[in-house]
Amino acid sequence: MNRPNDSSKPRCEASVSRRNFLKTTSTAAVGGSVLGALPAGGVFAAAADDELKVALVGCGGRGSSAAGQALSTYSQGPVKLVAMADAFEDRLSGSFRNLKQRHPDRVSVDEDTMFVGFDAYKKAIALSDVVILATPPGFRPMHFEEAVMQGKHVFMEKPVATDAPGVRQVLAAAKIAKDKNLKVGVGLQRHHNAGYQETIKRLQDGAIGDIITTRAYWNGNTPWVRRRADLEKRYGRKLTEMEYQMRNWYYFNWICGDHITEQHIHNLDVINWLMGDYPVKANGMGGAEVRVGIDYGEIFDHHCVEFTYANGAKMFSQCRHQLGCWNSVSEHAHGSNGAAQINRQAITGPNAWRFDGKAKNAYQQEHDVLFHAIRHNEPHNEAEYGAKSSMTAILGRTATYSGKEIEWDKLLASEVSLLPEILAWDAPMKSMPGEDGLYPHPVPGQPLMV
Ligand SMILES: NC(=O)c1ccc[n+]([C@@H]2O[C@H](COP(=O)([O-])OP(=O)(O)OC[C@H]3O[C@@H](n4cnc5c(N)ncnc54)[C@H](O)[C@@H]3O)[C@@H](O)[C@H]2O)c1
Repeated sequence: MNRPNDSSKPRCEASVSRRNFLKTTSTAAVGGSVLGALPAGGVFAAAADDELKVALVGCGGRGSSAAGQALSTYSQGPVKLVAMADAFEDRLSGSFRNLKQRHPDRVSVDEDTMFVGFDAYKKAIALSDVVILATPPGFRPMHFEEAVMQGKHVFMEKPVATDAPGVRQVLAAAKIAKDKNLKVGVGLQRHHNAGYQETIKRLQDGAIGDIITTRAYWNGNTPWVRRRADLEKRYGRKLTEMEYQMRNWYYFNWICGDHITEQHIHNLDVINWLMGDYPVKANGMGGAEVRVGIDYGEIFDHHCVEFTYANGAKMFSQCRHQLGCWNSVSEHAHGSNGAAQINRQAITGPNAWRFDGKAKNAYQQEHDVLFHAIRHNEPHNEAEYGAKSSMTAILGRTATYSGKEIEWDKLLASEVSLLPEILAWDAPMKSMPGEDGLYPHPVPGQPLMV
């Protein structure tokens, strides 16, 4: 399960507890979980009336919502949140208060089952039957691997990795999860939207003939930024570089993967789903043109990529975080006999059609489907396509960063890990600001380690 180059795997150090009541030792009681106590690798499903114990790893915005959605599957059978883990105590406490208020009877977390620090995930996972992995994506491969090794069902947010070694780690763990009959959901929620499902099926059944060209866009607003000066004012001290990059994670590649990976993955993944395949190569261009300055780390603010599939079909992709420009979050397909706007669930041409059903909330639906699969022992493992769609975005990013044509197979075999070698608050970081406070950006045309 280890990454091929084991020395590239970060060493994870426990952090010191920020509040006495939050456990940070590895001696946390592991128990109370019937399913979790089964031997790792056991084939099992919960009976309809078994209580499923959920752990949340990464208690931010998405993780808190995902925990709420997991708890909202209670009509299928009893479900409880029993453990929470976060790198930061303040993020964990805020999420706990919010979840407790919204689901008072289904949040059973106390000082013994709240864990803080880099190794907090291991302790929370140990207490659960089902784990929600919702940290920033750089940590996903090691968290997913741990959950699978501990024999737990998983819901993990997209993307599932930020570099090729991470993708391989997830693919290897996905295979073991399948062998262990563990159920795995990935937060590419369009797969659970009835309108998308029917549109993709019609297109795959030939509604527009052979698919020749596709287009995918996430051109939108620039997301949140957590400025170092504001953070240092709020916490009343200087932040270490690790803490700063983790708090302002969107702008650092090792942890975010750039917005082509963090956000545009949704649209790239829809086209992969339609094609039933993944690109074999990509070329593109991009840069940090408008969103520049000391608060914006090392990522680009726009990427434009041409992906090629094995059958010669193309996907043209754009993602942009520049205000005041043309915006679109959409997916399109052009065939030999018509066209489709997939996100609008509309087909034009001789087989014109429009979805007129009512799609349920896909964020809830993805949990309903996962918990149903766990309770009824139905096959459910979305990790492979989650990993390969993450890889598609990494392929696009590598193409725009390098300015070169990048091949899938070569990149997937890459040993270049973006993660810091040690995960600790005072760890040396691979990307550091210059004297002017600015971080170096990739320069297309320059040699790039792939
Ligand atoms: N599917 C969707 O539509 C969707 C929407 C939003 C976010 N997401 C994804 O969800 C993930 C989280 O995004 P968010 O918006 O909730 O970010 P966030 O910053 O609000 O939350 C991330 C949380 O993870 C914690 N964390 C960081 N490193 C950790 C570690 N090593 N161990 C434990 N906790 C750690 C942070 O302290 C924070 O509380 C990302 O992968 C993002 O792409 C998906």
